[in-house]
Amino acid sequence: MKDLIPKAGRAWSKVRWSLAQRGFAGTMKTALVRLRRKDTASDAKPRLHPFDVRYGVDTSGLIGGGDLRTGHKNDVFNTAYYGMAPSRFRQSIADWLSDRSHAAVADCSFIDLGCGKGRAIMLASEFPFRQVIGVELNPSLATIAKDNVTAWTAAGRGMCPVQVVCQDATEFVFPDGPCLLYLFNPFAAPVVKRLIESIRTEFATRPGKLDLIYFNPEAGHLLDTDEGFELRWTGSIPMSDEDTAADYVASADDLCSFYRWVGSRQNG
Ligand SMILES: C[S@@+](CC[C@H](N)C(=O)[O-])C[C@H]1O[C@@H](n2cnc3c(N)ncnc32)[C@H](O)[C@@H]1O
Repeated sequence: MKDLIPKAGRAWSKVRWSLAQRGFAGTMKTALVRLRRKDTASDAKPRLHPFDVRYGVDTSGLIGGGDLRTGHKNDVFNTAYYGMAPSRFRQSIADWLSDRSHAAVADCSFIDLGCGKGRAIMLASEFPFRQVIGVELNPSLATIAKDNVTAWTAAGRGMCPVQVVCQDATEFVFPDGPCLLYLFNPFAAPVVKRLIESIRTEFATRPGKLDLIYFNPEAGHLLDTDEGFELRWTGSIPMSDEDTAADYVASADDLCSFYRWVGSRQNG
């Protein structure tokens, strides 16, 4: 399929993506950095994350947003595919669970908007959620996520039902009941803005029934300034030595923010 797209068209679509993500100055800066730098840091890292080796799944690799085109209008806002460090993910859920002010975990649906190859949804299923749902815009990644979940479930890992939906995040209809939404910086601010509008409508009569864990919260300012969201915690969650050795994107000081939908005044 890739070879059917003329080279010039591919290059232009990457430039369009970069302009949407980084702006003109950022696009020029990135191009210059790439021209000057031979990337030696990632050469020293293993090709496969130990998570894949241990569980026989396929979640490794970094795919730039410009290489994840589907024809959807939100493609230009896609940041990248990259799997979350398992130790960091597990710790974030343990931290969320330790705060008892939310609904019982057995009543909560866990939703990963931008689930990629499904690493986080597999990990989420280790916890006793009501259900786990992964939503992914890119059909190839969604297929890999489904295959991974099938292998994970067949091996008896996971304590709750898991499903993968190939769909744009802003078109997703949230299930009834309390939800824990998880975002690993999947898309840029314009999509986060539309997502907030959708949450405002869907949770209008459900204040306190949506918590959000947002890793690398690049569009966090949109939530910080929205009266409907309460910032409950922000900080860095440590990674294990194994993840630190294997991860070529994450760093120790990456931020994570926990929010709660408290409802907006116009919704009463
Ligand atoms: C950084 S990866 C996160 C992978 C996974 N959530 C994890 O934590 O391991 C972000 C993913 O979001 C997906 N994505 C980007 N924009 C999207 C959109 N509008 N709707 C659904 N998925 C989207 C990308 O294709 C990519 O797979």
